[in-house]
Formats: sequence, C-alpha cells, structure tokens
Amino acid sequence: MYIKIVCISFMLIFLQHMARLIYLMGYHKSVYNHTPGPCHQIPGVEHGSEDMETLPDGTTFITAGLVWSVSSSHFKQLYKDQGRKGRILLFNFNTPEKGVTELAISEDFDQSTFHPHGISVIQNEDTGKITLFVVNHCPEEDRIEKFEFNKEKMMLEHKMSYIDEAINLANDVAATSENSFYFTNYCYFRSPLSFLFEVYLLFPWGSVVYFDGTNYAEVADSMIMPNGIYLSRDRKYVYVAAGLADSINIFEREANNNLELVQDFFLHASADNILIEPKTGNLLTAIHPILHETAAHLEAPDLHRAPTKVLMIHMKNSSYANDITELYSDEGNNISAGSVASIYDNKMLIGSVQDKLLYCEVRTL
Ligand SMILES: *[C@@H]1O[C@H](CO)[C@@H](O)[C@H](O)[C@H]1NC(C)=O
Ligand SMILES: *[C@@H]1O[C@H](CO)[C@@H](O)[C@H](O)[C@H]1NC(C)=O
Repeated sequence: MYIKIVCISFMLIFLQHMARLIYLMGYHKSVYNHTPGPCHQIPGVEHGSEDMETLPDGTTFITAGLVWSVSSSHFKQLYKDQGRKGRILLFNFNTPEKGVTELAISEDFDQSTFHPHGISVIQNEDTGKITLFVVNHCPEEDRIEKFEFNKEKMMLEHKMSYIDEAINLANDVAATSENSFYFTNYCYFRSPLSFLFEVYLLFPWGSVVYFDGTNYAEVADSMIMPNGIYLSRDRKYVYVAAGLADSINIFEREANNNLELVQDFFLHASADNILIEPKTGNLLTAIHPILHETAAHLEAPDLHRAPTKVLMIHMKNSSYANDITELYSDEGNNISAGSVASIYDNKMLIGSVQDKLLYCEVRTL
C-alpha cells in the first residue's frame, strides 16, 4: 500500500512536470505575420546580431557571431564550416542605407576566441567617452570584456577582461559605471548535455550578479534562465527578462546595489533582450513565442527556423509596467529567433540570436 502511494505520487509529479513543459514549449501556439511598416534585411548580417545598444545620436553597437559552451555539437561544427566569427558591428540610424560596418579591435585582443553575446554601452556625459561591456564566451570560461570606442579610427580598444568564478554562464550585462555592472548568469551547467538536463527539469539555478568594481555579489537568485538585463533611464530600476518564468522582473536598486523585486510582469512568453524606447521610456523586448521551434533553430539553424515577436511594454513610470503592444510578428521566414529590438526616431532594428538583422519603419506607434 505504502509503495503504491509513493509510485502514484511520483507519477503525478512526473505528469505535472510534463504538462508544464509541453505548455512552456508552446506546442499549442501559432504565430501570424505583421510588420509596423516596410521592413528589409540589412545586408552582410547572416550569422547573428544577438544584442545591441543605441546611443542618443543613433549610433548602434551590435554583437554578432554567438556560440557558447552549451551550443549543440551540430551548431559548433556549422559555426566552423560557415566561417562564422565574433564581431561587433556598427549601425547608424541616421544613415541606414550604409548598413553595418565591422569594427576593428586592437591587436592585443585575441579575436579568434571572441564569441560576443550581451552588450551594454555607456557614454560619459562630460567627456563623451564611449565604453562597451560585452559578454564573451571564451572556450575556457565566460568573461566580460571592456572596450573603448575610438571614433576617429573606427575601432575598439580593449581595456580589460573581467574574469571570475562568479561569471559562470553569462548572458547579458548592464553597466552602471565605467567599472561596475550587473549581469545575468543564465544557467549553472556549462556543457550541452547537463545544460539540457537543467533546462528540461526547469531548475531555477540562474541568477543576477553585481560587480561593484572590487567584489562580485549575487543580488537575485532562483531564476529559470534569466536573459536580458537593462537599467531604467534614471538608473534606479533594473529590468530582467525572467526567462522561462515568462515574465519581466522589475527590481528596485537598493543603496548597496542589492535588488528588491517590485513587479513581476507576466508576458505569456519567454523574453530575450530588453531595451528602452528613448522617447517614452517604454521597454522593447523580442520574445520567442514558440520555444520548441526556437530550441530546434538554435540547435540546427540550417534545418529549422523559429518565429519572433517584438513587444513594446508600456510603462506607467519606470517601476510599473501596465500594457503591451505587439509591434512585429514573424513566423520565421524573414527573421529567425529574433532576440533584440531597438527603436530610434520611429525606425526599428531587429536582431537575432544567430540569423539576420532587419530594419523596419514603425508607422503604428
Ligand atoms: C518578409 O520579407 C518580404 C520580402 O522582403 C516582404 O515583402 C514581407 O513584407 C516581409 N514580411 C514580414 C512579415 O516581415
Ligand atoms: C508607479 O506607478 C505605480 C502604479 O500606479 C505606483 O504604485 C508607484 O507608486 C509608482 N511609482 C513611482 C515611483 O511613482
């Protein structure tokens, strides 16, 4: 009798987990196509544009060529065969016809092991100096790289590599000064197989870490695959895409940089990167509406494509989200697994994890 109860309990837990997984993976969902105006592909970007950041003058830095320790062996092989490589691209919203330019990087930096992911760019208000923080998946470990943008030479000067055990499997970074930042640790495991185990069992082993210039401290934990991270314009709040919790977490920064959750805004979908629409302070995020298709595409982009949606999340104030407008939706033909969107003067760039880069006019706002 006792054994029977134990067995039935386990079976119920298993069934409940399977139901939750099937629901999360989005087998019941479908996606229609719509655009906020004419869209076209930016030439020269076929191998990703995972994250980006736009400065007040329209200059946009884009990371391309993502691969990380948890990528499938099929994708790692494809990465080599197709000659994919890590690059930082520059786009200017004032001269969209010029497309993107690859930025050269100072020679002391080993570009052969550069696999950029999340990016955060800050500009010194007094000197105009532009500093980039980029998550880099080196073969041996994840790092956060700091570069300074040299506009005359159109190149990036490598300033330093942040290396620490606290940087585990990083996804995105949000700078708070020229030597301090928040970043997300996406998962605990770093190898493809154990990563899948962690993901499919939905273990909440992701976190947010703060580096204050000296020490690393975990400031939020128990998250399932936290993804993009971004600061509010007044820098008092931190927005985190809460991964498989299908929401955006809004945190208030305490005096010691710890984070206090003030709102958990449910999206019914897994958000990737978060940026801010500069005119309104609203959030812009790209979501992966059908996760089993995203997973198939990430594993084998040569065989599968995945849908994308771009949402504008209307903010009542910088700590309170109250509404969503869907700006863009594509079932996967025009862009696959879109991961980020930036709006400047009613024009929008949409980047993707490992696919194209789109430029759209936004006539529906
Ligand atoms: C897809 O691209 C085609 C060709 O550029 C364009 O005509 C169409 O409007 C696009 N559709 C979407 C949903 O972006
Ligand atoms: C932001 O709006 C929410 C909802 O109306 C309110 O509860 C909160 O106090 C506001 N916060 C600030 C800083 O004004």
